[in-house]
Formats: sequence, C-alpha cells, structure tokens
Amino acid sequence: MGTRNLPITYVLLLLTLLSSMVMGQQDIKNSTKYPIVVSTWPFKEAVRAAWRAVNSGFSAVDAVVEGCSTCEELRCDGTVGPGGSPDENGETTIDALVMNGATMEVGAVAAMRYVKDGIRAARLVMLHTKHTLLVGEQASAFAISMGLPGPTNLSSSESVEKWTKWKDGGCQPNFWKNVVPDGCGPYHSKDNIAFNEEACCKANLLEIVESRSSHVGLHNHDTISMAVIDKMGHVAVGTSTNGATFKIPGRVGDGPIAGSSAYADVEVGACGATGDGDIMMRFLPCYQVVESMRLGMEPKLAAKDAISRIARRFPDFVGAVFAIDKNGVHAGACHGWTFQYSVRIPEMDDVEVFTVLP
Ligand SMILES: *[C@@H]1O[C@H](CO)[C@@H](O)[C@H](O)[C@H]1NC(C)=O
Ligand SMILES: *[C@@H]1O[C@H](CO)[C@@H](O)[C@H](O)[C@H]1NC(C)=O
Repeated sequence: MGTRNLPITYVLLLLTLLSSMVMGQQDIKNSTKYPIVVSTWPFKEAVRAAWRAVNSGFSAVDAVVEGCSTCEELRCDGTVGPGGSPDENGETTIDALVMNGATMEVGAVAAMRYVKDGIRAARLVMLHTKHTLLVGEQASAFAISMGLPGPTNLSSSESVEKWTKWKDGGCQPNFWKNVVPDGCGPYHSKDNIAFNEEACCKANLLEIVESRSSHVGLHNHDTISMAVIDKMGHVAVGTSTNGATFKIPGRVGDGPIAGSSAYADVEVGACGATGDGDIMMRFLPCYQVVESMRLGMEPKLAAKDAISRIARRFPDFVGAVFAIDKNGVHAGACHGWTFQYSVRIPEMDDVEVFTVLP
C-alpha cells in the first residue's frame, strides 16, 4: 500500500463517521414511530385497546392480548370469541395464538371447548409450558387449571338459531367431498370413486374450481390477527377466531398455526392473515411475508407475493394479509375479496382503516 492511497483512506474514514452519525439520527427519529398497532379488518375497539396498553408502557405481547381479548368480548363480526361459527354439532370452539417476535416463543390453543378466553389461554401456554400448541378438551382443562373461567357454554341463541336453520336446510353448505349422502350426515366415502382413479381426479379438480369460495364470505372466515411493536421496538402478533361456520368437528384452521395466520420477528417485522384458512395454512403466508421482507422486499411486494403464490394454485381462494416492517411501513394484499386493515401509530389521532382491493 503506497502513500498515494492515504488520502482515500481518510476520505473513507470520514464517510464512515458521517454515515454513523446519520444512522444515529435515524435511530432517534425511528423511535418516535413506536408504538404501532395493526389489525385485520376495521376492528377499531380492539386496536384502541391494544394501543392504550402499549402506549402506557405494556409489552407488545400484553398489548396483543388486550387487543385480541377485546375482540373476543365484543364477539367481533361473530367470528371471534364465544357465541359464533357453530360446527356441524352446533358447538362453538376457539382457536388462538400469540407469538413473541423478540424471543420466537409461541403459545396456541386449537379447537378449545368450554373456555371463551382464547388469546389468554394461548398466552398461558406460552408462559407456563414448554409446548407451543394444546388442543381440544385438554386445552380447556389446562386453561381452567391455570385460572381462566370455565367450563362455559360457548353457544349463543344466534349460533343455535344459525345451526338449526342449517340443519333444516339439509346441512348446506358443508365441508365434505367425495361422500354420500349429499344432505346431512353421517357420511360415507364414495367407494366407487376411491377405486376409480380417473373419476377421482376429475372430481377433485371440479371440487377445487367449483366449491371453494361457496363457504367463504365476509362474515364467515374472519379472524382477528394483530401485530404490535412496543416502545422498546419489540414485536408480537396474536390471533383469535372461532373458526369456520359448519366446520367438521375437530377442524383446526390457520388461526393457531404460527407462520400461517401470523408471524413476527423483531429483526424484520410482522404479518397477519385472514381468509380461507384451510387453503392458506398450506402455504404459511405470514412466514413467507416475513422472510421476503428479511431478504429486502418492501412490505407491499412481500404481501402481494405471498397472496399470489396461493392464488396461482387456488384461483378461487379468498384471503388477505397485512405486512409491517420494523420501520413502521405497512401494506396489505388480498384475493377474492376487498380487505381492510386498521392501524394506529403515534402521529394518528385515532385508528385509521386502510382498504386494499384485490
Ligand atoms: C429508520 O428509518 C429509515 C427509513 O424510514 C431506515 O432507512 C432506517 O434503517 C431505520 N433505522 C433503524 C435503526 O431501524
Ligand atoms: C347453551 O346455550 C344455548 C344458547 O343459549 C342453549 O340453547 C343450550 O341449551 C345451552 N346448552 C347447555 C348444555 O346448557
């Protein structure tokens, strides 16, 4: 290395010094971007509750729990909390998840019976067990043993009425395929189809093309999926839902599956999803969104990419995701319906709702 190179070394040093000063200023500026709350749908009261919690110094995890449990109490759209989405037996069950994006801890409950506090049960799984997911009546027993109220009747007069009408209408629509009879069960496999490959695969293709979207409406598959970044810059996500209306008992959707309905990583940001969970959980769209952002994709592009990966294989699926990076840039993408998501950041006076067209 000759002396000729010395001035260049000095210039490089100066540049490094300058850029680190600029970075320092950005850090200070960025901290005023927090806290941040984002949620699927115009669930404004839930976002306000999470905002109050996180703005008064609660952690991202606790704020997510406050937000989602507000939706459970309000029975947002009838698809969160007790009293909605009866299964084929008329019963309401609860799926919920919470994820700490700072520690990558996850707690979740699925097909939980008799306990209405889904997100609180999920947090108990995260805080007091080394497991990630508890299901069914054992999840209920765990939640009750840890102090949550129950056993509770999760049906409401509305859910009972809805279910009675569905029964009287010949159990349409339902989630069965390749079975007889067409009306109410018990159902049996169509043996002739199972042994005839050609008929089988034609029938499957028709199934995908014709009937996916028939079950899914704005007031059927809604889920609250929420992301919070707290004042420390820690990120958490949570979801709560009572699942798909008239589901086959035992069905678990995307709600309690980390990476599908929600995902968070403090190094990158977070994602929340809603829609046809039976399809979406095969693609882990929120894991996809976060990993795409990690590789440098903008939130908007990451969200669109995750949705289009599903749409290419299931053109009739209905679903949406929101994405938020750690700088507070947020975006949504959807397919088959118009999606709305809610945001509260420090410079807003109240929750703002963003609309995303397919
Ligand atoms: C602060 O925000 C800017 C853009 O808004 C971004 O380029 C920068 O990396 C952020 N800094 C940190 C520490 O996140
Ligand atoms: C649960 O509540 C529903 C709706 O109020 C009611 O119809 C049903 O009988 C109740 N079930 C039990 C076991 O009490």
